Amino acid sequence: MPRLSELSENERAEFRAEQERAYAALQQAGLKLDLTRGKPAATQLDLSNELLELPGGKGIADDGTDTRNYGGQLGLTELRAIFAELLGVELDQVIAQDNSSLSLMHDLIAYAMLHGIGGGQRWAEQKIKFICPVPGYDRHFGICQHLGIEMVPVELGPHGPDVEAVRELAADPAVKGIWVVPMYANPSGAIYDEQTTRALLAMPAADDFRIFWDNAYAFHHLTAEEYAPLDVLGMAAEAGNPDRVYQFASTSKITFAGGGVSFLASSKANLDEYVGHAKFRSIGPDKVNHLRHVRFFGDAEGVRRLMREHRDQLAPKFDLVGQVLTERLGPHGVGEWEAPDGGYFVNLAVPDGTATRVVELAKQAGIALTPAGAAYPHGNDPRDRHIRIAPTFPPLPELEQAINGLATCVLLAAAES
Ligand SMILES: Cc1ncc(COP(=O)(O)O)c(C=O)c1O
Repeated sequence: MPRLSELSENERAEFRAEQERAYAALQQAGLKLDLTRGKPAATQLDLSNELLELPGGKGIADDGTDTRNYGGQLGLTELRAIFAELLGVELDQVIAQDNSSLSLMHDLIAYAMLHGIGGGQRWAEQKIKFICPVPGYDRHFGICQHLGIEMVPVELGPHGPDVEAVRELAADPAVKGIWVVPMYANPSGAIYDEQTTRALLAMPAADDFRIFWDNAYAFHHLTAEEYAPLDVLGMAAEAGNPDRVYQFASTSKITFAGGGVSFLASSKANLDEYVGHAKFRSIGPDKVNHLRHVRFFGDAEGVRRLMREHRDQLAPKFDLVGQVLTERLGPHGVGEWEAPDGGYFVNLAVPDGTATRVVELAKQAGIALTPAGAAYPHGNDPRDRHIRIAPTFPPLPELEQAINGLATCVLLAAAES
């Protein structure tokens, strides 16, 4: 079959008519499908239902902590120990907090706005900027937009952003941060390599410049290859910048997205500074939830085992997305995508200038997609080509319908353009 770009004018008109018929049929089908957010499916949440019966007993942890009471700003030691092992950090480099790592990111920036970092000038008194590798996570960009931080996009490759471009930007003292999703980046699936990481850790930057190392998908492998997280804190210390990294993780996509535990891993100085602010906000995190998680996981291996059960559910969904896109778009040479090794998304690049149209067509056919451009600061994808597919939530039959419908919209938009 000739590729769309190789068709004659007549053949192209015929192709377009064919896609219009397919789209009309799609609209007739009256679908109501949602591929918008990277949420775990109910069957994944069911894997952790035992948590609903825990912790049981009197809520006393092995170290004697009465988890029902106030206090314990650092979180329950037993839970910190499990995630210290998983993240490859020391116990005193990680704290356990409440259910959302995104709120830790937000709060750290808000604290920097209000108080500065390490005795530096308050961010709110300056015009500050963050480096935003793109495509990236829309909620990171949302925090910046909400707090008035200028965002500077840099193209994200398969192993990290263009280091030279980042180095040049970071030399500006107004640049205070960079968003990094180091493993299975949302949405491209990129995995930061050691060389890129070391460059980010060593480059000259303001004293209060921080890498927001959001390891949301550190354990969320889709293949048998279970990459270990990079020892980013160790490398930061080796680079002479021990305080440069805030590392985040959570159990939102391990146990319950609405009832998990978040983690902040960083240098002792950074953790002390964070707790120094957080203690005015709360008299300690939800340690009953910490204890439930300890009893449920048992140990680090318990977490790894659970993640393999998630993988068993998720891998077929990602395989299906790849298969449908290959069958439907491949023969026409339309669109580019890659099968990620982990994480929650597939990034589909459609022909330039058509992503907004595809999302609109899909909406009119009852398929909700993340808005085109969502993976860019202020929703501005300069080439209007990225579409984020979130295949985790729908059951397989619905997912198949949705991706087939999406492919129809992609082909129609390409034919129109
Ligand atoms: C990269 C990334 N970071 C953070 C989050 C949210 O994490 P949490 O549920 O711990 O707030 C998500 C959720 O989709 C994400 O994709």
